[in-house]
Amino acid sequence: MEPFEPYEPEAAVDRAPIGHAVIEPGSDDWLTRVARLSWERNGGEFQDHLESVRRKFAECPDQGQLFLAKVGEQLVGFAWAAELELGGLPRGWYLSGIVVAPGSRRRGIGLALTRIRLEFIRERAHMSYYFASAQNLASIDLHTRVGFREIRRHIRVEGCHFTGGVGILFARES
Ligand SMILES: CC(C)(COP(=O)(O)OP(=O)(O)OC[C@H]1O[C@@H](n2cnc3c(N)ncnc32)[C@H](O)[C@@H]1OP(=O)(O)O)[C@@H](O)C(=O)NCCC(=O)NCCS
Repeated sequence: MEPFEPYEPEAAVDRAPIGHAVIEPGSDDWLTRVARLSWERNGGEFQDHLESVRRKFAECPDQGQLFLAKVGEQLVGFAWAAELELGGLPRGWYLSGIVVAPGSRRRGIGLALTRIRLEFIRERAHMSYYFASAQNLASIDLHTRVGFREIRRHIRVEGCHFTGGVGILFARES
């Protein structure tokens, strides 16, 4: 399994329309599909993904929010926002996980899931944060498009392994 989408800034992107993709807050009945997409992307035990998704969803909407990208009954992407207090990092609202299904990438779904989360955070905080592996250039480009800038390199986050070993914290004013 490739950890990240290959970085192709100059790609001749197939922009088949996704006008029929709906971006909206998540609900209970989609959690199994969220866990499946997370498991397909990250591997490990499916049950662990399901438990983690249910745990995070139980904290919504006070400490987080789940957003989905759907085409009919098919889940083509999901993303979280969460209020986090992590040792050594600023306390605040983070974009805390996004996955777009491989067959639906590069059609603007990642950007749409990011913009809706930034609107959600704007109502709650002056700053938004996210962190990523320095190797995840596709994700870094996406977030740069909406104004995130690097503020700290070589961060450590408990329970989080950065592929390649270097994690970066990014921030953006709401
Ligand atoms: C990163 C990810 C969420 C992007 O989703 P997406 O729906 O393909 O993104 P979009 O189509 O909205 O892309 C928006 C912009 O991001 C950048 N981008 C996205 N994928 C890229 C790639 N493979 N290479 C270079 N730039 C890329 C581009 O600037 C793109 O604009 P463009 O298509 O006009 O060039 C998706 O590749 C994914 O799910 N990856 C695996 C999970 C992951 O890495 N999550 C992030 C953890 S921090």
